[in-house]
Amino acid sequence: MPIFQEKARILKNQRVAQGVWEMRLQAPQIASAAYPGQFAMFRVRDELSPLLRRPFSFSRLNTADGTFDILYKVVGQGTRIMSALSAGDYLDILGPLGRGFRLPPKHAREIWFLAGGIGIAPFFGLLDMLRQHEIGFNITLFYGAATGEELVRCEFFEQNNCTVNICTDDGTCGFHGFITDSVERTCTLTSVPDYFYSCGPHPMQQRVMEWAKCNNLQGQMSMETMMACGVGVCLGCSISKNFFAGEQKIETGYLRVCREGPVFTIGDRT
Ligand SMILES: Cc1cc2nc3c(=O)[nH]c(=O)nc-3n(C[C@H](O)[C@H](O)[C@H](O)COP(=O)(O)OP(=O)(O)OC[C@H]3O[C@@H](n4cnc5c(N)ncnc54)[C@H](O)[C@@H]3O)c2cc1C
Ligand code: FES
Repeated sequence: MPIFQEKARILKNQRVAQGVWEMRLQAPQIASAAYPGQFAMFRVRDELSPLLRRPFSFSRLNTADGTFDILYKVVGQGTRIMSALSAGDYLDILGPLGRGFRLPPKHAREIWFLAGGIGIAPFFGLLDMLRQHEIGFNITLFYGAATGEELVRCEFFEQNNCTVNICTDDGTCGFHGFITDSVERTCTLTSVPDYFYSCGPHPMQQRVMEWAKCNNLQGQMSMETMMACGVGVCLGCSISKNFFAGEQKIETGYLRVCREGPVFTIGDRT
């Protein structure tokens, strides 16, 4: 797949929830080559500091307009600089990068989306992709945040016929507790997904992996690691993988999240 470097024009950059911003960029080459679950590396300003580009997932892709959106949480120097930019400013962007979401298997009808915090970002584009394929999926979103004010655009999923289950750590909205508690409670013999997609912080993803293994479920998980190059060269984003022959573990190897991921099929990493 081609990778492009573009000077992308910012069309809008606005706060959409507590600490969360949405940016729309005009970058026709990247927007037309990208698919949901992939990401791009942003050079946040034309100076030596911060030195490294920052990775962000595409939240929505609009090929016809040559634009894409990202949702980002302000957590440090790079994202603070981004939040101060305005429409008409430009950013140097490299993308699309990595392997994104794949369609579910044909038999899958009940599909669950599990999104923790800013891990909601790639689900907007994923939902667009599944709806474009016009398959009669029943989609249930489990979306967890620290507090109600951090929730982003839940109405998008409701308007697109998803069942939406909100969870907050402080109980200000929806189920009081972690998303993984809500998922485990809902997953019973009578309510079990045929397939799931998951994106969120590392501890959540660990529990999702255990839940999937215990219930023998299939799905795809978008993993996050610190990244330096984003193109498979520095090995800074590597995660371990066990290789099995039947039940027996024969080797432990490594996968680069920026090249073999960030989206892994359950089974890629076990
Ligand atoms: C493939 C991929 C896709 C991503 N997509 C999104 C997205 O759509 N929206 C979004 O808000 N963020 C996303 N991130 C995380 C985002 O890249 C970091 O939050 C960002 O680089 C922080 O930059 P900073 O300069 O503001 O923070 P820094 O000053 O670099 O760090 C501030 C704090 O953020 C933490 N941090 C830095 N990088 C990461 C990281 N990669 N993962 C988790 N914590 C980090 C640091 O540990 C530190 O505590 C993604 C990361 C990856 C690897
Ligand atoms: S970030 Fe350099 S190899 Fe993945």
